[in-house]
Amino acid sequence: LAVVEVALGDRSYPIHIEAGLLNKAGEIIASIAKKPRVALVAQKKVFDLWGAQVSDSLRRAGLDFFTAIVPDGEKAKTLAWTRRLYGEFAKNSMDRSSLVVALGGGAVGDLAGFAAASWLRGVDFVQIPTTLLAQVDASVGGKVGVNLPAGKNLVGAFWQPKAVLIDPLCLTTLSKRDIKSGLAEVIKYGIILDKDFFNKVKALRTGLLEAQPEALITAIQRSCELKAYVVCSDERESGLRAILNYGHTIGHAVESVAGYGRMRHGEAISIGMVLAARLAVDLKMFHPDQAGEVEETLRAFALPVEVCPNLDVRAMLKAVSVDKKSKAGKVRFILPKTIGVVEMSDKVTPEMVEAVIRESQARAAKR
Ligand SMILES: NC(=O)c1ccc[n+]([C@@H]2O[C@H](COP(=O)([O-])OP(=O)(O)OC[C@H]3O[C@@H](n4cnc5c(N)ncnc54)[C@H](O)[C@@H]3O)[C@@H](O)[C@H]2O)c1
Repeated sequence: LAVVEVALGDRSYPIHIEAGLLNKAGEIIASIAKKPRVALVAQKKVFDLWGAQVSDSLRRAGLDFFTAIVPDGEKAKTLAWTRRLYGEFAKNSMDRSSLVVALGGGAVGDLAGFAAASWLRGVDFVQIPTTLLAQVDASVGGKVGVNLPAGKNLVGAFWQPKAVLIDPLCLTTLSKRDIKSGLAEVIKYGIILDKDFFNKVKALRTGLLEAQPEALITAIQRSCELKAYVVCSDERESGLRAILNYGHTIGHAVESVAGYGRMRHGEAISIGMVLAARLAVDLKMFHPDQAGEVEETLRAFALPVEVCPNLDVRAMLKAVSVDKKSKAGKVRFILPKTIGVVEMSDKVTPEMVEAVIRESQARAAKR
């Protein structure tokens, strides 16, 4: 069992990582819960696959729980589903001492976490993330929320869980494409903070792509340590936490113009990381060989690295300019200086972004 501590004073919590941990979920949750009243909020698909194991464990631990099933993916990340959860909480007499458990990918973690943050002004919650993306990113750090028609994640809160339970065996039922998408975020941690880890991930490539538990535990544990370090230094994103957005400015633009659901988040971030590396080369702050290494590594994990030629450049530029991380009209980019070190820059002009996107589309068209 590996435990990573997220040190946030009286809101500190452990991230438990262990193969087979779902069987111990009840025991761990029972040791945290003020009262044995628990709402288990799960995605339908995940509940069908892993719900029995979690339910048995909660039952064995003597927890009094009910289950709320929500739709897969972004369909559940709405105010309408938040309201439905409130209805379930009310019907099942969830009081201040009750606890919400989120079982599934990042979408259910964000939804159930938001419902927990706002129900009776906040009740405890525990994350059981079941996608690689959720295990290395979404479940750690306390950002919860839902989407509005006007945009993603526009309503939310900072609400730290009481614990995160990560069982890499859950990933055995995840598609290869979703594993690769999660690995894009793992590679990101290496580029922004830890060159040795970047090299280790490259060395573990086969095991990671085959979802071998040992390789996954190594990657998940270090990713959680790095995310915890960033979150603990800057919980509310007033400084350092922004480095987690490396690859996300152009990545989000590609993802939204392609249409959410068409592309995996990690695939778009992979493209965004490569283009941000090229922008850093253009600004002469990053060596071209290292930018090549970033690109080759992502390619080796069979992740996309170029912008699809049929995506509308104007629409992508608009999406970049309204990126919520922009300040005073300037889009701030997280750019690498060397593998393992990044910095925030406001030197990237819209012309540079346009050029790097067009050049990428031209490269893609040639292949
Ligand atoms: N809060 C944060 O800090 C943060 C960070 C990154 C991403 N996010 C959010 O996370 C969401 C994306 O997360 P995601 O990629 O986990 O998506 P997701 O929750 O939509 O899950 C993807 C799909 O995988 C299925 N699934 C989940 N676990 C499975 C398993 N073990 N086996 C088989 N299928 C499984 C789900 O049912 C779903 O259909 C987005 O909404 C994003 O905004 C939040």
